[in-house]
Amino acid sequence: MNYDIYRFGKVDSTNTHLLKLGEEGFPEGTVVVADEQSAGRGRFGRSWESEPQANLLFSLLLRPDFLQQDEIFVLTFAAAVSVAEAIEKAADVQPQLKWPNDVLLEGKKVCGILLESNSDSNRLGHVVLGIGLNVNQQKFSPVVSNDSTSLSLFTGKKFDRDEILFAILSNFSSVYESLLKGDFYSVMKKWRDRSIMFGKKITVNLAGKTFQGICDDVTDDGTLILRMGGELKKFSAGDITLLSNRSSEGEK
Ligand code: BTN
Repeated sequence: MNYDIYRFGKVDSTNTHLLKLGEEGFPEGTVVVADEQSAGRGRFGRSWESEPQANLLFSLLLRPDFLQQDEIFVLTFAAAVSVAEAIEKAADVQPQLKWPNDVLLEGKKVCGILLESNSDSNRLGHVVLGIGLNVNQQKFSPVVSNDSTSLSLFTGKKFDRDEILFAILSNFSSVYESLLKGDFYSVMKKWRDRSIMFGKKITVNLAGKTFQGICDDVTDDGTLILRMGGELKKFSAGDITLLSNRSSEGEK
């Protein structure tokens, strides 16, 4: 993929900005990077906090005509794999992936991914993949400090944000190539190989409801399968909490 990178000191949100550029007809591969966001967004309308100039905040415009509306989910997994491979190499860490879109270091979140699109139910328009990777931030607000980390906090080193950006984009090109060929399996296998969820006791929170069980599988279309007693329940969205490192006896 050919990338065209636009850099900003400060924007409201790189996703918001790029969604507009997408409306204006900018091509696939357009990237918006910012040092700071005044209204960075996370999933479920949450805000995404980031110290100015410390981290990677960027969005990538895609026009994946080859995907059906209900398949665009796979782009989140492709992005998570691209980030994990890039930081593993750059920082010599072993990233873990948590469904659907988190990259963790020893259980703490180092990167979040937000996929947004302008599509309606009939037509898939452009898609914006927003990535927030904590690179050099040293301190987090008390609300998130127990659950968040940065590459720098984790390793005690400082990192060049651009080098990591280029590595992520280059990795993304090759996973996107696989998707273009219809090979979802290899992308999802890379994701599953780094997942910390299988066989673990988890809760899935969705629309105010909580479901508890054992994570059984994540299928090639990105669906999470939760084993609740004898029943298997499928989720295509939700928020996961890991309750234990091992499944408890009798619940398998
Ligand atoms: C999440 O974990 O909830 C997703 C967080 C995504 C944050 C990134 S930062 C760059 C891009 N712009 C935004 O407003 N959000 C995403």
